[in-house]
Amino acid sequence: MGNERWTRRQFVGRAGKTAGGVVLGLGLADLLAACGTTTTSSSAGTGNLEIFSWWTAGGEADGLKEMFGIYSKKYPNVKIINAAVAGGAGTNAKAVLKTRMEGGKPPDSFQVHAGQELISTWVKADKMEPVTSVWNDQGWDKTIPSDLKNIVSSNGQVWSVPVNVHRGNALWYNKKLLDQNKITPPKTMDDFLSALGALKSKVQAPLALGSQGNWQVQMLLENNILAAGGPDFYKKVFSGQASFTDANVKQALTWIKSMLNYVNSDHPTLGWDDADKRLIAGTSVFNIMGDWAKGYFTANSWVANTDFGAAPSPGTSGNYVIVCDTFGLPKGAPDRDNAIAWLKVCGSEEGQAAFNPKKGSIPARTDVPASIFDPIAQQFIAEFKTDALVPSSAHGSATPDAFASAVNDEMGQFVINKNVDKTSSNLQQLSDEFLKA
Ligand code: GAL
Repeated sequence: MGNERWTRRQFVGRAGKTAGGVVLGLGLADLLAACGTTTTSSSAGTGNLEIFSWWTAGGEADGLKEMFGIYSKKYPNVKIINAAVAGGAGTNAKAVLKTRMEGGKPPDSFQVHAGQELISTWVKADKMEPVTSVWNDQGWDKTIPSDLKNIVSSNGQVWSVPVNVHRGNALWYNKKLLDQNKITPPKTMDDFLSALGALKSKVQAPLALGSQGNWQVQMLLENNILAAGGPDFYKKVFSGQASFTDANVKQALTWIKSMLNYVNSDHPTLGWDDADKRLIAGTSVFNIMGDWAKGYFTANSWVANTDFGAAPSPGTSGNYVIVCDTFGLPKGAPDRDNAIAWLKVCGSEEGQAAFNPKKGSIPARTDVPASIFDPIAQQFIAEFKTDALVPSSAHGSATPDAFASAVNDEMGQFVINKNVDKTSSNLQQLSDEFLKA
């Protein structure tokens, strides 16, 4: 039942055994044991609940609010403190969280990506409590796929609760502008670059980019590596088993260089949502972004497949870059019982049915009816069942935070120097430093 949709697929990533013994690919086996106290049933009801995230933009903030609404109905006397720190992909939030965690002032629960960001940062540092007993009490084995459970598990414990699955490799377009210019949604990189060329004289900047924090450029890199090398190469290069000086990576960088001919020049000062605003304004036609962009579009009353459309990012059909948001329980959470009650909302059918349509993601649970989602989400739900799944590096699952943030800096340099050979060799140095330990 619940786990069926995962059985035929491989979630390819860093080779390693997970708690469940399945070869999954996130290198969890070599992570340190982290034994916290065992969670028990909660008695939430009074006091505060402080939830830390970076969900402040249109769509994502609305999804969060839905879950707060459900929580407040159940626990009307708990005061919810929304401690969200603005900045896409958590560029600012992660620094604030680190200071708080190191200073012994954790929030009650915080947003964290499944995989390396959770396990090799917080679990390894012994900062989390396991949520295994909550998981078991709620019977989530029946409704959350085992592969998803495995990437939030290590050493026989579950460490966080997946609330969604985002798709990182998506191309968004202003449908009316595309139709007007008689351009069909591009599938290959060649189609994409020729569409950009055809649109250059028609709109201000055919490809919208908001590169504040540079993680958006890392997304272009990972999507293009997937397009050039396929999922097996992707898996190898992001686990230190293939070189960033490989021709596939150079091809990926060369494609980014070509794309940069068509982007808005103010991109370093814009966030991802500012870039998507350009599609709505009609000053750009395309944006390559995770499907939180869909949450933003629909929050701005844009209708899926009428005002905007989506396709896998060029050259990546048949592949799904996974970005999985979860919530965990930090050790020393000031309102621990309220936090456990929050995790139950995050993992519930009700919570995920309310959250995901607004957030733009598909649910982590398999029992949320697809019919409540827009047609693009329905398409993604279907493709998720059959596509090759690969974890995102830019969004914390495939690689440790230190690597992802160094790659952000490197890609920030690349948009300026556009030097393919130098960048690929610098990326390889980062791989040697962070992925081979
Ligand atoms: C990702 C996160 C998404 C969305 C996005 C933009 O890291 O997983 O939920 O928030 O950043 O901020």
